[in-house]
Amino acid sequence: MNPIQVGLLGIGTVGSGTFEVLRRNQEEIRRRAGRGIQIVAVSRRDTAAAQRIVGDAATVHADPFEIVRNPAIDIVVELIGGTTLARELVLEAIQRGKHVVTANKALLAVHGSEIFAAARAQGVIVAFEAAVAGGIPIIKALREGLSANRIEWVAGIINGTTNFILSEMRSKGLDFGVVLQEAQRLGYAEADPTFDIEGVDAAHKATIMSAIAFGVPVQFDKAHVEGITALQAVDIRYAEQLGYRIKLLGITKRRGHGIELRVHPTLIPATRLIANVEGAMNAVVVHGDAVGSTLYYGKGAGSEPTASAVIADLVDVTRLHTADPEQRVPHLAFQPGELHDTPV
Ligand code: HSE
Repeated sequence: MNPIQVGLLGIGTVGSGTFEVLRRNQEEIRRRAGRGIQIVAVSRRDTAAAQRIVGDAATVHADPFEIVRNPAIDIVVELIGGTTLARELVLEAIQRGKHVVTANKALLAVHGSEIFAAARAQGVIVAFEAAVAGGIPIIKALREGLSANRIEWVAGIINGTTNFILSEMRSKGLDFGVVLQEAQRLGYAEADPTFDIEGVDAAHKATIMSAIAFGVPVQFDKAHVEGITALQAVDIRYAEQLGYRIKLLGITKRRGHGIELRVHPTLIPATRLIANVEGAMNAVVVHGDAVGSTLYYGKGAGSEPTASAVIADLVDVTRLHTADPEQRVPHLAFQPGELHDTPV
């Protein structure tokens, strides 16, 4: 079978990671998906920069609509970010019957209801594992791994920039502003760091997790959002003396007949695992009535960790897209006789 044809809208940090991991692991990915996955077109305003990444493996476009309107493309991967152009592109891709994979948490938190309704009407998939907690497969955990449970609450460190800042302020006694500059230099922060430090980025992600955990519409406008800008090194020191760490948590919880959705700095006993998540890492605790508490930890940002989630979605969509029923269910990727390494 010919490879499924993918168009990447935006090839920067995550896009180039996606291109590289797909190339490096193409054989494993092909077996898992039941079919090859090939990026055949990419877009970026700086076409020369895009060309340097893809060589002659894909066509390069300055105009992302050329990819969305190309009938040969089966799946559009949206990595442009923002909520205006990205919304137009995603809606047009859906109208044209294409599946969409996106890492865009702001887009889904703000326009998710419209986008998912359009996808349902067209019978296409919008997959978004990379939108929450980067490389951690938290969407799959909530939607599939824990699907037997009545989810009671979800609480997580879902913004690496602020966790890095709080960790550095605690361990080195540094001021907020100094550490923010360092986070920007290391490339953790969003293009507009106010989204990180004011809790907006975490609220986008908590909104998406809330919708999946509790089956409610995406309601970013209902979230209580408080960032870390008012915190001082002295707050962190006093918390430590009392046996606590301060973490910026995204929390969503059943409460009576409603759902809580909030982001704010939280005192956590220093003995808890999640209190010891340091640096630009993410961790999410999900509590289900049957399973109890489960913890997911890993890199929430970065080129290849986020690419890992994007490609997992490409594999899922490829499996679901195929007409072969055997491919539609997850199965062992390696058939007997194909094994190269034997466990010892
Ligand atoms: N700025 C985000 C973070 C990037 O720091 O977690 C990943 O969404």
